[in-house]
Amino acid sequence: MSKAQTVSTTVSDPTVATAAAQFLTPVVLGLQALTISGKQAHWHVRGANFIGVHELLDSVVTNAGGFADAAAERIVALGLPIDARVKAVAEKGASSAVPAGFTQSAELIRNVIADIDAILVDTKAAIDGLDEVDLTSQDVAIEIMRGLEKDRWFLLAHIAE
Ligand SMILES: [Fe+2]
Repeated sequence: MSKAQTVSTTVSDPTVATAAAQFLTPVVLGLQALTISGKQAHWHVRGANFIGVHELLDSVVTNAGGFADAAAERIVALGLPIDARVKAVAEKGASSAVPAGFTQSAELIRNVIADIDAILVDTKAAIDGLDEVDLTSQDVAIEIMRGLEKDRWFLLAHIAE
């Protein structure tokens, strides 16, 4: 006699999933907001090194989307949902330093770096908070920090003395 096997929707204990969601959700929302503010910057940059900065900002947007996907999918892989609807992203991105309208490249780069720095704070909190809870989720946060810090360097190199 065979009986349908019950398949768990989670791969780890609920505490781990909850911690991953708690620490990775702010990172996802910040990165999703960066995909929007980064495009805003991509479209409105003016002045020095226009084409290089314009194209670099598109790479920042693409990378941010990829990082957000990795973090969100880690939460979902552990069995929990994430609310990354527009309202949640807008609330997280409300403090973006990227202005409306055309902006000179040096100023705009500073603004995008400020947005990245805010995400790095959440990412560092995730790395620290997940350290004794779930190293696999922590690894996702570490990978995001490495990538974001690289993009930050690429931006900063345009304005650093
Ligand atoms: Fe474009």
